[in-house]
Amino acid sequence: MTKKIKKSVVFFEAEGGTDKGDDGHRRDTMPMVNAVKAQGWNAEVLFYRNDKKDEIIEYAKENFDAYISRINPGNIPGGEAGYFDMLRSLSDAGLVGMPHPDVMTGYGAKDALTKLTDTDIVPVDTYAYYSLEELRKKFSISLSRGERVLKQNRGSTGEGIWRVVLADERNFEKGDKLPADTKIKCTEAVDNHVEMHELGDFIEFCNQYLVGENGMLVDMPFMPRIKEGEIRILLVGDMPIFVVHKKPAEAEDAFSATLFSGAKYRYDKPEEWAELVDLFLSTLPEITNKLGGYDLPLIWTADFMLDDDEDGGDKYVLGEMNCSCVGFTSHLDQGIQEIVADKIITTIGE
Ligand SMILES: Nc1ncnc2c1ncn2[C@@H]1O[C@H](COP(=O)(O)OP(=O)(O)OP(=O)(O)O)[C@@H](O)[C@H]1O
Ligand SMILES: [Mg+2]
Repeated sequence: MTKKIKKSVVFFEAEGGTDKGDDGHRRDTMPMVNAVKAQGWNAEVLFYRNDKKDEIIEYAKENFDAYISRINPGNIPGGEAGYFDMLRSLSDAGLVGMPHPDVMTGYGAKDALTKLTDTDIVPVDTYAYYSLEELRKKFSISLSRGERVLKQNRGSTGEGIWRVVLADERNFEKGDKLPADTKIKCTEAVDNHVEMHELGDFIEFCNQYLVGENGMLVDMPFMPRIKEGEIRILLVGDMPIFVVHKKPAEAEDAFSATLFSGAKYRYDKPEEWAELVDLFLSTLPEITNKLGGYDLPLIWTADFMLDDDEDGGDKYVLGEMNCSCVGFTSHLDQGIQEIVADKIITTIGE
């Protein structure tokens, strides 16, 4: 069977989950589908199921020129591996992947930061650990140098994201390996709750973040100016669409920019953050190159925190990027679905 002349796009979703509207779709999915159709193309949604994978692959190969993935990594039926296999076979069969699974892991995994430490937007002392042994050895030293944030890879909304600071009466030399009985104060971003621990126990507790599929921890310096807010740029390809300013709750230990933890969100235009947006756009070629040279994701975000530069001015530090299932439900009335549809069509080509 030959492909239809008119080009066709399939959107993959998963059934269920809290991100769905009354029609069973993510709230921004049908607006995108309709915007693609409005340009005379065909667009369809398929619900991914692990047990229907082979059928979906056959159907999609025959009928579509590209896929758009709209499944939250934490919500993939049957796990990430099967879904990524499917996307990979479709890309191999010639469908344009938005995004390709390697882009999802390249940009979206927390250790992307460690590939960018020689750019201006990631602190040089940002590390990734993949084993308990590495965590024991290296975190005990990095923490001696100052307050840190440990981030698990699989989390979202601040779960397993820990701010860690020394709370010991002893004075340790910077750069020394801290002993296992060092007292530490740990605050989790999910709700800013505080726990006091001994370093050795906390490290063993963190093993849960290292084991299993995509287990890893990123260790980066704590940015005290997070109190002033996290600044999220949402982009369609290389086009900044809007900026979200997320200000953590006022409580003393609060550092989390998640809604659940009480942060306040404000939506700004990219022009209001011109300095940051220009810096990020000018760093994009370097970022793309360091993350594997793939096309930029279709809809994605980059989150920044403020820091001081040597001359007392502002500096921007990248905290994470997300590209697996970024939504824009808050901006449906602003026609972002049309911008996305244009981007899909120009990427695939008429
Ligand atoms: N280096 C840092 N210094 C200060 N605060 C930080 C740092 N890294 C992260 N945070 C805070 O912790 C929050 C959660 O971290 P991060 O966004 O990396 O994790 P996440 O759980 O994957 O979140 P998301 O749901 O946004 O993907 C951030 O929104 C920010 O407020
Ligand atoms: Mg975040």
